[in-house]
Amino acid sequence: MAIPVIDFSKLNGEQRTKTLAQIADGCEEWGFFQLVNHGIPEELLERVKKVCSQCFNQEREENFKNSAAVKLLNDVAENKTDQKLDNLDWEDVFILMDNTEWPSNTPGFRETMAEYRSELKKLAVKVMEVMDENLGLPKGYIKKAFNGGEEDNAFFGTKVSHYPPCPHPELINGLRAHTDAGGVILLFQDDKVGGLQILKDGEWIDVQPLPNSIVINTGDQIEVLSNGRYKSVWHRVLATPNGNRRSIASFYNPSLKATIAPAPQLVENSANQEYHDRVITYPKFVFGDYMSVYAEQKFLPKEPRFQSVRAM
Ligand SMILES: [Fe+2]
Repeated sequence: MAIPVIDFSKLNGEQRTKTLAQIADGCEEWGFFQLVNHGIPEELLERVKKVCSQCFNQEREENFKNSAAVKLLNDVAENKTDQKLDNLDWEDVFILMDNTEWPSNTPGFRETMAEYRSELKKLAVKVMEVMDENLGLPKGYIKKAFNGGEEDNAFFGTKVSHYPPCPHPELINGLRAHTDAGGVILLFQDDKVGGLQILKDGEWIDVQPLPNSIVINTGDQIEVLSNGRYKSVWHRVLATPNGNRRSIASFYNPSLKATIAPAPQLVENSANQEYHDRVITYPKFVFGDYMSVYAEQKFLPKEPRFQSVRAM
């Protein structure tokens, strides 16, 4: 079983209807799909791979060797306890935002990643417009909701991660299972080193590496806004003994001040559909409040998070 692979360029031609349907299926049945021919130049993606790997080697690797994960894993392995470390991840990570400090010692890193982020943000907007259309919402509805009514106020972050080779992958996760808090996530994952899995019908399945594709998934806020039509799906990264997995995830999330609620059009319509007996009603809340809850509960089920913000 493999997640859908969709040719995004086909949206602009005779196969538009079919492509919209493929994306609707990816959102409704999978929560994860891969885009090819997404319009991000290959030449840029090649540079992104190069500068991120160089950055890890030059500016991160040494620190990772001294990280808590490495020390604790050593301790556990020496004690031969087989007690899995379930409170941390085998991951080197930093986040790029417009207003934060970026790594600076890798030639070309800043310029390349700024260019990449600007391209990815445009792709995020296109993907959200497709979701608007598939959900029967006015064009720009999701973007507007995430921007809290203001122009360009949404949160756009890029998480650069590496999952170095792990000597005891059975004792620690690369990244523990979770659903994403935010909106639309666009992942540029390693060409070869896998490890990302999603939970589909009770089974963990691999998100197959496909060079230069962009993996899209929907976070908790898309689930709320779509009134449960598009679920945010559990996923995790397995640690692996071989290879250093590179993973660059960009998040188009609501601004912390944005109010998130199910789109009224979808609440009304749902009463007429066959699943009306299991309609979930989601709360209305301020995204910043959701993030406060998420910070404490990232690796727990999302439903209690919805309950917590409902109570706020
Ligand atoms: Fe995630």
